[in-house]
Amino acid sequence: MVKKVIIDCDVGVDDALALILAFHSPELDVKAVTGVNGNVTLKQVFENIQKVLSLIQPKNKPLIAKGADQPLKGKTIYAHSVHGKDGLGGAKIDRREGEEGWQFFPGRADELITKMARQYPDEMTLIATGPLTNLALALQRDPGGMGKLKAVAIMGGAVRTRGNITSYAEFNIFSDPLAAKIVLESGLPITLVPLDATHQVSLTPQWMENRVKPINNSISKFIIEATGYDSTTHQFRNMERIHLHDPLAVGVVIDPTLVGKERLSIDVGTQEGEHFGKIVEGLGKSNIDVCFTVDVKSFLELFLSRLG
Ligand code: RIB
Ligand code: CA
Repeated sequence: MVKKVIIDCDVGVDDALALILAFHSPELDVKAVTGVNGNVTLKQVFENIQKVLSLIQPKNKPLIAKGADQPLKGKTIYAHSVHGKDGLGGAKIDRREGEEGWQFFPGRADELITKMARQYPDEMTLIATGPLTNLALALQRDPGGMGKLKAVAIMGGAVRTRGNITSYAEFNIFSDPLAAKIVLESGLPITLVPLDATHQVSLTPQWMENRVKPINNSISKFIIEATGYDSTTHQFRNMERIHLHDPLAVGVVIDPTLVGKERLSIDVGTQEGEHFGKIVEGLGKSNIDVCFTVDVKSFLELFLSRLG
């Protein structure tokens, strides 16, 4: 049964890898890709969505829409140090005029999300790989529409592990904790894919040399450029390994058996200070399954098998 999905993202390098995995997976039918401010500015995110879709050249062209250019509250933080100024590690993608891989939606991202949820009631899965601002805006404007989503997969949070932006907080949640609180308290059927899981799956120089480089196509060349992998030094530009945060959020929708989950009620620290953006395990009723274990080998093989 092919799953209809929408991907809300802040294209950065791992978001791009998530889009490649999603569009190269027969289990998924990606109906829309929406952009949110996060790793880089919204303008750059939307430019990157179009660049990556030009690289993928999907058979069925998704609708694309721009969303929030800043968090519900507070200021933007960006992650240029990780994803580069352009958000794709400087990777060059030539966009062939007239061969666009998308259709523009004449409205905001949150409007497209609820429109799609209402158009395909109980069939649509929303995958969020950036800050949750668009999802929160959609819940505030049309909770009934969001209630028609079949499932929601979210890459975000650090539950029982160290954060990656502060010692407690993960980037997507830290970027807009108020939005995260609204979404995680909404009662939507959420699978949360936190750093606890995503730190277990990464591309190493060895995988790049032995498994990615030999694919030798436009996708593998993009991954090499975007990660700054250097074949002579066997190193990435600025990381020891490339964590596949966002691709794992897509992976759990493709094959839910790839992860082990625990049902937890979740709260989010929204007060300024050291717990800002921290995920706190609560008691009481919940609709959130949190991924803690991963079948690492199966996921990596799935990811690599879809780059061809
Ligand atoms: O913390 C990792 C997350 O933050 C990923 O989604 C990455 O793309 C950044 O958005
Ligand atoms: Ca992301």
